[in-house]
Formats: sequence, structure tokens, C-alpha cells
Amino acid sequence: MRFYLIGAGFISRTHAEAIYKKLPSEEVELKVAEPFEKSLAEFIAAFPNAIGYGDAAEMLSESPREDDIVIVGTPPAVHFELAMLGLASGRHVLCEKPLVMDKQQSELLLQEAKSRSLWLGCCSNRFLGDAKIEAVRELLGQRKLGEPYKATFIHRNERGRPGIEYQPWSRWFLDRSRSGGGVLIDWGPYDIALLNQLFAPVQVDVLSAWTARPLTQVDPTDCVNDVEQHVAAMLRYHTADGKQLMVHYERCNVTHGAPYTTTEIEGTEGAVSWDSYFSGDSVTYGRDLEGSRTSETHTYSNPEGTFGFMDNPVRYFIDKVKSDSAYALVNEQAAFNFQCMMAIYACAETREPQTVRLEGAPV
Ligand SMILES: NC(=O)c1ccc[n+]([C@@H]2O[C@H](COP(=O)([O-])OP(=O)(O)OC[C@H]3O[C@@H](n4cnc5c(N)ncnc54)[C@H](O)[C@@H]3O)[C@@H](O)[C@H]2O)c1
Repeated sequence: MRFYLIGAGFISRTHAEAIYKKLPSEEVELKVAEPFEKSLAEFIAAFPNAIGYGDAAEMLSESPREDDIVIVGTPPAVHFELAMLGLASGRHVLCEKPLVMDKQQSELLLQEAKSRSLWLGCCSNRFLGDAKIEAVRELLGQRKLGEPYKATFIHRNERGRPGIEYQPWSRWFLDRSRSGGGVLIDWGPYDIALLNQLFAPVQVDVLSAWTARPLTQVDPTDCVNDVEQHVAAMLRYHTADGKQLMVHYERCNVTHGAPYTTTEIEGTEGAVSWDSYFSGDSVTYGRDLEGSRTSETHTYSNPEGTFGFMDNPVRYFIDKVKSDSAYALVNEQAAFNFQCMMAIYACAETREPQTVRLEGAPV
């Protein structure tokens, strides 16, 4: 298979590693476009079989093959134009999260992908397929919770701002015009991908939302720093069978309050809570037993082997292009998930509730 990476920074290196893990190296042809010579040279030093270009359009100018994949791994401000370039070259496109910068761009990309019968994928599915999440899905599928009515999805991180505490050399994360936003645009794609996989909503209402930017004594003053680092929203999910469920969502990358995580679903007959993405592998199932609450906790580990969560977007997308994948996030679902996230921003900004519907879902 032929892969065309756009951007040779941190994330593109993880994609290149995943490609080589997923496919034997003799099956891989890897090209990479990056305008900054130093970044390109470092990438080629790490992956000597890759062919480097200074310009993405030049790299994509050769005739496409049916299973060619373009991977956009640049800062978000250029995702739209580069993903469009990839689709226009006749290739499937896997785009880093966030998919794009606004709703209209997501609609235009989806339209372009569909008109060309190509897949437009988003990398926000990194944590799908995780063993503990599969265990939660199984409890839901077996209706062990009865009717789920509330999900609590809170991740409060004391200090973890990209561009400051994390990857401090990539200051673009702090500049809204380049990143699209702060903690919501950074973590929201993963969180929404997971919530939307668990509950399969056809419509999401954002009933209320707010954002904030707590300050610290190490906030940089030599660059733009205008993104939110704390967000919360109350969401109402509507499923295809007419059911509703409330989602209490909160994320922060910096707080002067206490850090904690709560990931829990409550239903009429039971509840399930699980460890956050990184903190562990346990899932706790609580229910009633003769009038008292009883609970059991099990741990679920991912199979020992080659693939980690950073490899998932590429390996799922390769599977999708070759045949199918239960975890690839593509086309309507990718656009819908992105629009759910943008509706949280819109609600926080306008203080008006917002509604997003999955394209093609029955009314
Ligand atoms: N860093 C992470 O841990 C991480 C994890 C998951 C997803 N992501 C996502 O990956 C994307 C890139 O993040 P990163 O951490 O790799 O950033 P980075 O700063 O390490 O790399 C981005 C690269 O894109 C290049 N670039 C910019 N404009 C370009 C263009 N027009 N054509 C080709 N290359 C161009 C830059 O020169 C840079 O080398 C973002 O959307 C980010 O949200 C990052």
C-alpha cells in the first residue's frame, strides 16, 4: 500500500511506526511532505525508506491507486485544505483530530469524500476498541444497566496544557487561529468519539456549556495564548429508538481545584464506572441486591502485542480501506462527532442551546 503523510512532526512519526507495524515493510511505500527542512530531515533519518517532499501537492501529483491513503498530521488550521487536496487527488484521507476548524469545513469535506466515493477518516478513534471500553459496551449491550439515563464524563487534569506542560515546543496549540481551540479541541474528539460509540446518538442537544482559562505563573508571554483550558457541558443524547440520555461532560488541562476523573453510566437497573484512558484497566459494575447496592470490579487488559492506542487510527483505517473495521471513524460519523464538539463551543459562546443531527439518520 502507498501512504502519503502530510506533516513530519510528532504525530506523523507515530503514524509511520503504526504503518510499519501493521504491514510488512516490503508492502509499504511511504512518502512525506513537510515544508520545514529540519523536520523533514529528522523524519527521513528516523524512516530512511520514506521519500520526502517540500510540498504536499507535488507529492500527490502522481496517479492514485484504489487503496492509497493520505494522512494529514499538521496543525488543525491547515487540515481542511490538505484533506481537500488529498481527496481531490483521488485518495482516501485520514485526518488528525480535530477534523477541521469549523462546521462548514466538515460539511464540505464530507461532501467531497462522498462525491468521490472515498473514505474521510478522523484519528479521534485512538481509544476505541480498548478492552475495558469493550467490557462497558458489553454490559450496555446485555442491558445489565436497564435503561441508561445519565453518563458522567469528567477528566480534570491539574497541569497538562499542550504547548506548555506537554510538548512545549509546539506553541501553536495555544493559538486559537492555528489550533481551533484548547482543551476541548484537543481532548473533545476522543471523548465524543467514545461517548458516541457507547450510545450511538442520532441527535445531540447541547443544553448548556461554558469555557474558562485558568492562569498560572508560567503562562507564556512570548506567543499567542488565547485558548480555553477548562470546559463543561450538559448534553442530551437522542438515540434512534427515541430514548434520551443526559451526559455531564467536563474537561480541564489546568485547574486550581482538585484533579479527578469520573467516568460512569447510570441506568435504571445498574451502573458502570471505569478507569480513565490511562489510569488503569478496571471496570466496576454496581447493582441492587435485596435492597442494598452491591458492586464487582474486574480488570481488562489489552492483548499483549504490537499495537498501542497511538497505532489505532492508522490500523483501523487501513482495515476500512481494505475491507471493513468496526472502529474506523469515517464520513458521516466523523463529521457528526466533530460537529457535536463545535456545538459545545457555539453554546458556550452564544449561551443558546445547540442541536446537531447525524446526516442520514431517520427523523
Ligand atoms: N502531539 C500529540 O501528542 C498529538 C496526539 C494526537 C494527535 N495530535 C494531532 O496531530 C496534529 C499535529 O500535531 P503534532 O503534535 O504532530 O504537531 P507538530 O508541531 O509536532 O508537527 C506538525 C508538523 O506539520 C507541519 N506542517 C505545517 N503546515 C504544513 C503544511 N501545509 N504541509 C505540510 N506540513 C505542514 C509542521 O511544519 C510540523 O512539522 C494536530 O492536529 C494534533 O492535534 C497530536
